[in-house]
Amino acid sequence: MTARSVTLLAGAVALGAAAWAPAAEPLTLKTLAPPGSRIGVALNQAQSDGKDEAGLALALRQFNSTSPENLLKWERVHPEPDRYDFAPADRYVELGRGHGMFVVGHVLLWHQQTPDWVFAGEGGRKADRETLLARLRSHVATVVGRYKGRIGGWDVVNEALDEDGSLRRTPWLEAIGEDYLAKAFEYAHEADPAAELYYNDYNLWKPAKRDAAIRLVQGLKARGLRVDGIGEQGHWGIDDPPLAAIDEALAAMRAAGLVPLITELDMDVLPRDPDMWGADLAKKATIRAKTNVYPDGLPAAVQEKLARRYADVFALFLEHDVSRVTFWGVTDAGSWLHNFPIPGRVNYPLLWDKDGHEKPAFEAVVEVLRKHLP
Ligand code: G3I
Repeated sequence: MTARSVTLLAGAVALGAAAWAPAAEPLTLKTLAPPGSRIGVALNQAQSDGKDEAGLALALRQFNSTSPENLLKWERVHPEPDRYDFAPADRYVELGRGHGMFVVGHVLLWHQQTPDWVFAGEGGRKADRETLLARLRSHVATVVGRYKGRIGGWDVVNEALDEDGSLRRTPWLEAIGEDYLAKAFEYAHEADPAAELYYNDYNLWKPAKRDAAIRLVQGLKARGLRVDGIGEQGHWGIDDPPLAAIDEALAAMRAAGLVPLITELDMDVLPRDPDMWGADLAKKATIRAKTNVYPDGLPAAVQEKLARRYADVFALFLEHDVSRVTFWGVTDAGSWLHNFPIPGRVNYPLLWDKDGHEKPAFEAVVEVLRKHLP
């Protein structure tokens, strides 16, 4: 039986089958998510603008939480000192709210996709601590304030840590010092005291980085700041990271009294090459030729492997009571992974193929969620 053909019979059982004829309602991720948890998806602007109608319809049918892939990043929403561009973000927020979704804001402070003017001071020098703090506070007050009561949770700081657990040497750290993180959380809470606030990063399954992220969030909380969750992005591969590492990371976050979120889930199915990170253009072309191994479609055996991988990680999410799982994209058509870390490859990281058809991975996730129903 496919997930689509399964009908929701819980109501019939509760009311007595004779008294109630069940509607043939297909099971969706949001109807199967454990009560109190959320299942989300990142929308791109074509979707939140309603231009990609099929992608949007799919997202609205399946998910009860949404994140914006790019349009609330600083360079998009605040490209010049005195100019904000809120139109795409307004449409995104209204869309989510209008469909009863939990709307996430991504992201207030990051070292990428932040315009150069933010870090620039006078006379060609870099902005000093006070200037940068004032810019941060004003940006956060304006953006968070605009969506007060409508955006339910914010990724406040993204990717502040290096792989060894030390603070990443970003322009934020260099100009402000270590308390830039606390300031960002303070300003966000000031702007919307009711909004949930998260620390977000990748590779938190790596013990050193995971422990550093936990210490970082605990440190913020010890200062009396509001932090509601710790987000592991979940940009994973079909083989890596090992399940045990994910398991341990979620357990460690829970043991530390923190709420784990998976905020940007997808599974890269292409072979990894140790030199693929940061390679120059010529090298990238060579790596592309070697690793773009499924240009015409994903072989059935790999589809099945991807399905098992998704089933396995979802079993862990359920076990550790992950409060929100958000996929980074709706269908394979729009995934950023076609262009990262090597541009111009064909990847298959999500639950729906490029034409919006369910993949075996979708059926596998449905099955794991269904078995977990009370
Ligand atoms: O919109 C322009 C388009 O007009 C132009 O023709 C085209 C040419 O390159 O670029 C388009 O913008 C691209 C944009 O995605 C929209 O597709 C940017 O170049 C590209 O850099 C940008 O990439 C985004 C990336 O963040 C930037 O770092 C990805 O879409 C987005 O998925 C990705 O998301 C991040 C999260 O925010 C944080 N965690 C990691 C995650 C993946 O990198």
